[in-house]
Formats: sequence, C-alpha cells, structure tokens
Amino acid sequence: MCGIFAVSGEETKAGEMVLRGLKKLEYRGYDSWGVAVRTETSGSIDIAKEVGKISSVKRTFSASSESMGHTRWATHGGVTKSNAHPHKVGRVTIVHNGIFENYEAWKKKLVGTHHGASVKFKSETDTEVIAGMMSEQITRLRDNEITSKKISEIIRKVCAEIQGRFAILVMVEGVPGIFAARRGSPLIIGRGEKETFIASDIPAFLERTNVVNYLDDDELVYISGGKAEFSNLRTGERVKKRNVTVKWRVEEAEKGEFPHFMIKEIFEQKDTIARAINHEDKMLVKAAKLLHSANGAYFVACGTAHKVAMAAEYFFSEVAGRKINVVPASEMPSFEKFVNKKTVIIAVSQSGETADVLEILERGKKRGAKILALTNVESSSIARMANVHLPIHAGPEKAVASTKAATAQMALLFLLAFADSNQINFGRFVLRSTAASINDLLNPRYEDRIRRVAKRIIKHDNLFIIGRGSLYPMALESAIKIQEVSYIHAQGFAAGELKHGPIALIEKGTPCLVLGDDQETVSNATELKARGAFIIGVSPTKQSVFDEWLRVPDCNGAQAIATIIPVQILAYHLAVLRGLDPDMPRNLAKSVTVK
Ligand code: AGP
Ligand code: GLU
Repeated sequence: MCGIFAVSGEETKAGEMVLRGLKKLEYRGYDSWGVAVRTETSGSIDIAKEVGKISSVKRTFSASSESMGHTRWATHGGVTKSNAHPHKVGRVTIVHNGIFENYEAWKKKLVGTHHGASVKFKSETDTEVIAGMMSEQITRLRDNEITSKKISEIIRKVCAEIQGRFAILVMVEGVPGIFAARRGSPLIIGRGEKETFIASDIPAFLERTNVVNYLDDDELVYISGGKAEFSNLRTGERVKKRNVTVKWRVEEAEKGEFPHFMIKEIFEQKDTIARAINHEDKMLVKAAKLLHSANGAYFVACGTAHKVAMAAEYFFSEVAGRKINVVPASEMPSFEKFVNKKTVIIAVSQSGETADVLEILERGKKRGAKILALTNVESSSIARMANVHLPIHAGPEKAVASTKAATAQMALLFLLAFADSNQINFGRFVLRSTAASINDLLNPRYEDRIRRVAKRIIKHDNLFIIGRGSLYPMALESAIKIQEVSYIHAQGFAAGELKHGPIALIEKGTPCLVLGDDQETVSNATELKARGAFIIGVSPTKQSVFDEWLRVPDCNGAQAIATIIPVQILAYHLAVLRGLDPDMPRNLAKSVTVK
C-alpha cells in the first residue's frame, strides 16, 4: 500500500529519477502522487503533486541531487491534491505509508500550542500531523543546532509517540540528506557507489543497483550521497548492516512484450509452478516436522492467499490425513485463545507484508506459537518472523490480482502435504507433470479461445461459480479474480450448496462457471441449466450440459492449480473488453500494509 522512493546522490536530475522509480512502484497505490526535490540553487524543498495515476505523467523538476516521492493509497482524507504526499510543515517535508492511529489527539495539541502560533494544517491526513510534530520541535532550536544528529533525535522522539504501523521519509530544509524510519511497513535501502536509494520495493532502483540493506522494524537510516548510517529508532544506538546482493533481473519486473503485468504473470505460470517446488527435501522435511510437533495448526491469510490456504486444507486432509484450521487473518482474533506454545501458525502471503497477517503472527509469537511462512519476498517482514520460511520463488508479482503467486503457493503446499506423509517424491512427480501440462496449455490459441468466451458473457452483471472439494475454494478465488479486475458481480459457491439458496439468483442466460466434471458437480450444473443458466465448464472432459468448455489437464489431486488458470485469463479479458486497466483496479492496492 503506497509506493515510496527517494534518492540522494550526484545526479542533478533526482526529481526525474524519483518520478521514474515511482512509476515502477505504482502497483502499490495509485490514488495520487507527489515528488519533493531539494533545489540545487536555493536549497529549498519544492513539491509537485497531483491526483491520478503517475504512469502517464511527464514533467521536469529543478536541478537537484536529492528527491523523494510517494504514490498514495488514501486512508485518512479523500483523494485530493492537498491530501497527496509529500506534506510540508515549516522546514519538514514528509512522505508516509501506514496509519498514525492516535493522530487526532496530536493534531488538537499542535493546533493549540505550537509556540503560541497554531500549526495550520492544509490536509485531512494523519501524515501531516507527523510533519507538524517534527516541525514543532525544530522551531525550538537555534539555526546552528539544526544538524542531522538533532533531526535523528527528533524523529526518534516523534516516532515514539506514533501508534500504528508506518514507514516515513523526512527531508529538512537546511539539513542535507534524507531520513527514513520504519515500524511495520517495508523500506529497502539500495546502495550505489555515490548514490543511495530508499524504496518500498526493489524494482524502483533495480536499474541502478542490486546491492541492498534491509531496514528492520524500529530502525532509522540517514542517507546522504553514497553514505547510509543506520541506528535503532528507540535507543539511537548505531546498527551495522550487511550488504545483500539480490538476484532479481530488471526484465522480470518489466512488462516486456505483454500489454499488462496481469497477463504476463499468468503466462509466467509456464515456469513458476515448477520453480515453486524447487526446494531441497530437507527444507520440506523441516517444515513437515514443525507441523508434526503441533497440537493445533492454523492457516492465516487474506484474500487470494486465504483461498489458497482453503485449497491446502483439502490437500492436507486428502494426502496427509491432517486437519488444519483455516481462518482469514482479520477473523483470527476470535480464535486466538486457542493459540499456545504447541500451536503452529502457517502464514501464506505473496507480499509478506500484509498487516492483518503480521499482527496475528506478532501476537501468536507472544503466546509461544511457532510460525511457518510461505511468501514470495524473502526479505519481507513475515518471512523474517518465521521459524521456518519457504519462499515460493515466483519472481516479482506486480499486477494487483494475484495469479502466479497463488498457483506457486498451492504447488508448494501440495508438496508439503506429501512431505507431511513421507511421500515427497510422489508429490514432486504429480506436480512436475501438472507443471508440464500447464506449460503446454498456455499458448496464444488457448488465450484466444477464452477471449471469445469472455465476449459472450461481457454484457452480464452477475456471474456465479461452483466447485466441489478443492475446487470449492477455487470457485471463491475465481470470484475474487473476476470482481477485482472486471467489476462484474461474481460469487463462488460450494456446488452442493446451490439448492440451499443461491439457485434463486439464476435467471435465463445467467453465466455460471462450473469447475470440474465429477458426477455430482455435473448434476448441479444440470440443475442450473434447467433454470436457464449459461454453463461454462472448466474441466478435463467435455460434458453435454456445457454451453462452452474450457479444457484443463487432468492433474490428479493438484486439479485446483490447473483449474484456476483459465479463469484468471477470463477475468483478464473481461476487464480488457470492458475498457478497464486490469493491473490497477479501482480502490485496491497490491500490498495491504494497513489494517
Ligand atoms: C489478490 O488478487 C488480491 N489482490 C488480494 O486478495 C491479496 O491476495 C491479499 O491482499 C493478500 O495479499 P498477500 O498475499 O500479499 O498477503
Ligand atoms: N495514512 C496516509 C494517508 O492517508 C498514508 C496512506 C498510504 O500509505 O498511502 O495519506
């Protein structure tokens, strides 16, 4: 949620560089954008900001070697120019990701007691209050007291007052360099020879460097040119950091010849499923041992990752005879009383930064629970909190709609279920043949066929999806995919639940996706058809009840993985045919770092 990018270096076009980097982070938030530059000539900090997407923005900035910017996903205050970041109060300019939960009390204080003169807030944001708090402290200093050391101290003091998760970047007029601090939201430092970057994700600076330092929670960094000084945000003590070289390639984070990231990432499933299971047996055995040691295990995840966990609940039941509870992270508080030293919490998260999940893990840890995590970002907060972390190796996923990460997670969890029952080799065999059939399936002809089906149903405002067994969670996931990018009202059901209510919604021509071709599901499809539904089957075999058929390979127990792929393509084309941008659906953001 929200993209942050900053550079301090030798370049005199820092503003342009920040604009370029922010465009690479736009998937994180795209309500509005803003860039601050420290102008070379006067040293003043100038701000440009606008409402709307940054991708098409072309503009130049005053010559500058220091700049920072932000793409917003609004939490406090509407999507307006004055609420867009950066915010400036006095000498302080700030960009912020997260929520300052207790901002109202501080806002009241500042309006009343800013050295007699009230702070005039120009926005409705919580962020501007942080800038106000810092500015208020600076105005108490004489000019010669305003040094980088003093500013670090002020940032520490102010951050100690903030309740909630945040990442902030601060520039101060009269003090060169950029300060950054985090508690719960990601920030990564990119290390060039004579330039340093701070970003919420690596693609922002990948064209310049792949050497990074990971800022941890409750740390502060001060960058200036090629220098980066790290310290503890609570104590001020110096912190040493290891330089890490990341293996991401620039082209992995670019669209290449594809019109959108979403379809590029769907096609990458030709490789990603096989890559996800490329783990040494000993890692899988370690994870399985953790599960064996558990007296009570919970999958905790959100959105698509939650549907993946639901599918895994079936895998573990069928393959390993193990019952694992699945709870959406936001609902887990009702069950936390059952979490103790014997519990294993399995966190599934593409980004590894989802706030609802992080909070459950933090509290679970306090109760002594062990954590097994599957993420796509090895440096993420969730990965680093885990006792055992299994990366899914899907490569950067930039489209808001999760596709390749979801199938990679399912493949790895499927394998883990086999590891849990001492049959890793057989699990690998099933998944390798699944990956090979998916590789064959994903070709332009197949996409074209699905595009034609999309055209047939594009005018409908309601769409229903049914599935049974592990295809039931895929029916729910299909609904998320279609809703989030095409804005069509889509709803998934357990196939057998239809006659208990939802069938009342079926009218003549209502499109229904039927996942699977088992006898009972086909009967449910027949019941739908009898009420006038237009049936699109997604299955290995064609059934006479289907009006349209999207073939998927027969993948044994791994059927859920193959079945979701044509639906991802269908969702993509429904969005494109409706003239929408599937990569940046309204109201959503890729990484949900606020609760
Ligand atoms: C997926 O298409 C959605 N955009 C969303 O549900 C997502 O899966 C959810 O926010 C969880 O994200 P995570 O995997 O990064 O934790
Ligand atoms: N809470 C801040 C706002 O609403 C930051 C939101 C974000 O993370 O983009 O402006």
